[in-house]
Amino acid sequence: MSNSRKKIAVIGAGNVGATCAFVLAQKKLGDIVLLDIYEGFAKGKALDMSQNGQVLNYDGNLTGTADYNDIAGADVVVVTSGFPRQPGMTREDLIAKNASIVKQVGEGIREHAPDSIIIMVTNPLDLMTYHMQKVTGFPAHRVCGQAGVLDSARMTHFVADAVGCSEEDVQAMVLGGHGDTMVPLPRFTTVGGIAITNLLSDDVIDAICQRTASGGGEIVQLLERGSAFYAPGSAAAIMAEAVLNDRKRLIPASAHLTGQYGLDDVYIGVPVILGANGIERIIELDLSEDELSSLQKSGNFYKSQLSDILGY
Ligand code: NAI
Ligand code: 2OP
Repeated sequence: MSNSRKKIAVIGAGNVGATCAFVLAQKKLGDIVLLDIYEGFAKGKALDMSQNGQVLNYDGNLTGTADYNDIAGADVVVVTSGFPRQPGMTREDLIAKNASIVKQVGEGIREHAPDSIIIMVTNPLDLMTYHMQKVTGFPAHRVCGQAGVLDSARMTHFVADAVGCSEEDVQAMVLGGHGDTMVPLPRFTTVGGIAITNLLSDDVIDAICQRTASGGGEIVQLLERGSAFYAPGSAAAIMAEAVLNDRKRLIPASAHLTGQYGLDDVYIGVPVILGANGIERIIELDLSEDELSSLQKSGNFYKSQLSDILGY
């Protein structure tokens, strides 16, 4: 029997990867292959989720593996393999450890899923996305990073709480790197089309921006082991859906800049159109001097880390 369903590979069957696979299965987007260095871990999670198929009415198969042959022909590859942050650890502390994992995974993708679109999740996100593009040699529009969907969803949550409204009516916009230099944009964050600058005081907005920028760290502190995974895994699945169904979503994502916002040859969070071809367009917002300078500071921080730490 022929199978014309889409194929999605999720690399790393840990907290974020398994959550992403679970959301993808419920969205009936295609067959899902969960790959981890620990074969039994990937197989066990895939089997557990498969046994949930009737309960939640999935279409599509879920399989676990440690073998890159099994990701052959994947349309989308979500990369979550890598170490999460521990308390007291910055995302940047993870660079050396995760860079070697990304190299190994990138070589597997290049060989077995050469036409795929890659959605990176591994931290430090913007650096690892750049590294993945270099390792695979894929065109930059086929390698993007998940951070903005999550960071904007966190800001949305705090805004909805402060305004006392449904999260559904909030549209937040968070750009920049997925770290301390991230750039929440209150002027471009709206509730029912009204900018939050018209709805909330400057103090409340400042507090929301700060809590958003340290949103990952807040959860790390609470969990005491590991980092957030429900919202991050879901955010990656939403990006995969945008590609698989050619939804042309306008979302913030880590994309390769070639002069936009005065930044060149760096991956950083900007508004993009995400569809079947990956990053189909980078949207250039008319930023204020302060907003632009924050975004450039963030981009230049990662650019210096690319050369100082990763040797690019
Ligand atoms: P986890 O430890 O639960 O899972 C990581 C998985 O990767 C483990 O199962 C491990 O066996 C696997 N792995 C390690 N090396 C591998 C390799 N070479 N090939 C295949 N699999 C390998 O960690 P968690 O919580 O799922 O986080 C994963 C990554 O995502 C971390 O780097 C974390 O910092 C990052 N993250 C990024 C977010 C974002 O917004 N971009 C949000 C949340 C987490
Ligand atoms: C987060 O933002 C740690 O990047 C991860 O939750």
